[in-house]
Amino acid sequence: MEQRVRRPSKLLGTLVVPGDKSISHRAALFNAIADGTARVVNYPDGADCGATLACLRDLGVGIEQRPSAEAAAAEGALDLTVHGVGLHGLREPEDILDAQNSGTTMRLLLGILAGQPFFSILTGDASLRGRPMDRVTEPLREMGARITGRDGGSRAPLGIEGGSLRAIDYRTPVASAQVKSSLLLAGLYAKGTTMVDEPADSRDHTERLLAAMGAACGHDGHRAWVGPSTLRAVDLRIPGDFSAAAYWLVAAVLHPNASIRLRGVGINPTRTGLLDTLRAMGANIRVENERWEGGEPVADLWAESSSLEGTEVAGDMIPRLIDEAPVLAVAAALARGTTVIRDAAELRVKESDRIATTTAALRRFGADIDELPDGMVIRGRRSLHGATVASQGDHRLAMALAVAGLLAEGETVVQDAEAVAVSYPRFWEDIHHFTGA
Ligand code: S3P
Repeated sequence: MEQRVRRPSKLLGTLVVPGDKSISHRAALFNAIADGTARVVNYPDGADCGATLACLRDLGVGIEQRPSAEAAAAEGALDLTVHGVGLHGLREPEDILDAQNSGTTMRLLLGILAGQPFFSILTGDASLRGRPMDRVTEPLREMGARITGRDGGSRAPLGIEGGSLRAIDYRTPVASAQVKSSLLLAGLYAKGTTMVDEPADSRDHTERLLAAMGAACGHDGHRAWVGPSTLRAVDLRIPGDFSAAAYWLVAAVLHPNASIRLRGVGINPTRTGLLDTLRAMGANIRVENERWEGGEPVADLWAESSSLEGTEVAGDMIPRLIDEAPVLAVAAALARGTTVIRDAAELRVKESDRIATTTAALRRFGADIDELPDGMVIRGRRSLHGATVASQGDHRLAMALAVAGLLAEGETVVQDAEAVAVSYPRFWEDIHHFTGA
């Protein structure tokens, strides 16, 4: 499927973006192994979160879903009833578990399966089968799980048989919430206290939710730990996804006649590196009506036409905006001066090699952009021209390129545009709402 985008004369309006993908995976997974029944409101209908539900059902968890009854829910959102089976109530799946395109599903589920005394096989689509899994399979083996797979267990398909685990004190070479969460979940089943030390802080949704569910866990600086614990089911409402709001923030601040209000967006500081970076570049974004939902901070965001200057992002900032790098590159391509993104080699092992795919695609718009081994250098231009580009099957690239299309002169065609279904199935409807196409 291809989508055509043109720059509209104005970008004015209010949007409700889908529920947060990271928090949603955790709400479903953790409640599935909790004691009791939980209601999860505003669960997104994107394919990644759907893959988590399908895997859990294959493991014997009862999950009912219906269109959300909540007035403030995002379009297409679901309300779930998750019937927790307790820490030891999962059953051996009949067939292969399919995480589809979702790294979070595969890595977090591996942590849970490491604690199960039965055999499972996990696979995913071509993109996920190419992504590194040794970052979780190696420490899970150290804890006592038996894991086999392609490339010695580095890539899916992976076979896993768990059972009695021992705690480890693990220093992960990459700041990754998926690695941290996988090991903390395995730690629920292990003897002793499982510790994970990261080179920089990654998103902390796991620590927040495990604590709310009564787990013996904590975190301090770059260290997180958990002891053997049972979980208590908790009801929660999923906040709007900052990573989905990011596309509209960039579109609004770079369009000359824009004012976009985004209602109910999660503003957990481990996720809002793009907000801080855009503001440091000169963006006019207001954070209003701050509140709490499901143990997470939430606010309305209001972004308006601004004039941006280039900047440098590196180090501890990178995990705080890792999923927003492609759309940050779009902002940088139209900012005054040079922007440098460094220390972001992780981008090469996301749904696509996002350093390579973002650089190649933005050049087609006339952007002045070069690859670094661990980032990009972008010299801002006064304007971009429309281009024909492909998503490479990467939802975040598809949406970043659509934003480039909203800002460029002339027509943009985004091919393989259906990739957005992974996290934001109604993205193109929202684009057409603004462009009137
Ligand atoms: C996620 C963590 C990040 C992020 C991904 C979702 C999560 O990956 O890129 O989209 O939900 O834990 P890493 O933690 O591996 O960097």
